[in-house]
Amino acid sequence: MIGTESKKQEILKAYLFRHACKVFDPNKKISDEDFDFILETGRLSPSSYGLEPWKFVVIQDAALREKLKPVTGGAQGQLPTASHFVVILARQGLRHDSAHVIKMFKDIHHLPEEVVQRVCGFYKLFVETELENNDRLLFEWASKQTYIAMGNMMTTAALIGIDSCPIEGFDNKQVTSILQNEGIINTNDFGVNCMVAFGYRQEDPKHPKARQNLDEIVVWR
Ligand SMILES: Cc1cc2nc3c(=O)[nH]c(=O)nc-3n(C[C@H](O)[C@H](O)[C@H](O)COP(=O)(O)O)c2cc1C
Repeated sequence: MIGTESKKQEILKAYLFRHACKVFDPNKKISDEDFDFILETGRLSPSSYGLEPWKFVVIQDAALREKLKPVTGGAQGQLPTASHFVVILARQGLRHDSAHVIKMFKDIHHLPEEVVQRVCGFYKLFVETELENNDRLLFEWASKQTYIAMGNMMTTAALIGIDSCPIEGFDNKQVTSILQNEGIINTNDFGVNCMVAFGYRQEDPKHPKARQNLDEIVVWR
């Protein structure tokens, strides 16, 4: 059993180790076991109403990565070199009567029928009031949650010595159309939100970690 102090040190070390890695060592591949472990912490991430509004598309096909490169300015170094490259999709149209919402409440959370009815009622109200029953707001709400899974996966990777880079520098319409043409995405159900590359660094980061101090970002009352 690792003591709390050394656990804290290990976690802090991982946070300092993690940086937005621009280029990976193309010869070093993450083992299946390690990558499954990273994905598992994405899977176990929390989500509002437990709806898990995400899908992780792991793009290992070099030709598909090549297609994405011209429209993914923020991953010029990562796309060709990452051991694993993930496009994170967020769910569209998560209304109370959608197939996914019903599946989650019934088949995944195994809620009894009367509880499903009650939760669906709360959820319907939430979508109508907070999200104005608006498709775009619904998608943005789902998208925000995907960052929790992405963050967890990057931290997990860092804890086991694997580098990563979160990526939002891409032309969403073009990436979506490429994934649609490949038969990967059905835009009635999903939209593209972000990407994350994993691998092993080619070289150490050029700059020390730059962050504001805690007292600049925390307010106590
Ligand atoms: C949502 C998000 C999108 C980002 N998009 C890109 C990107 O497209 N390309 C890139 O190289 N880095 C990207 N970054 C990395 C940030 O630039 C980086 O995290 C930030 O400068 C802090 O540096 P550090 O992560 O190395 O500590 C992104 C980070 C986040 C959280």
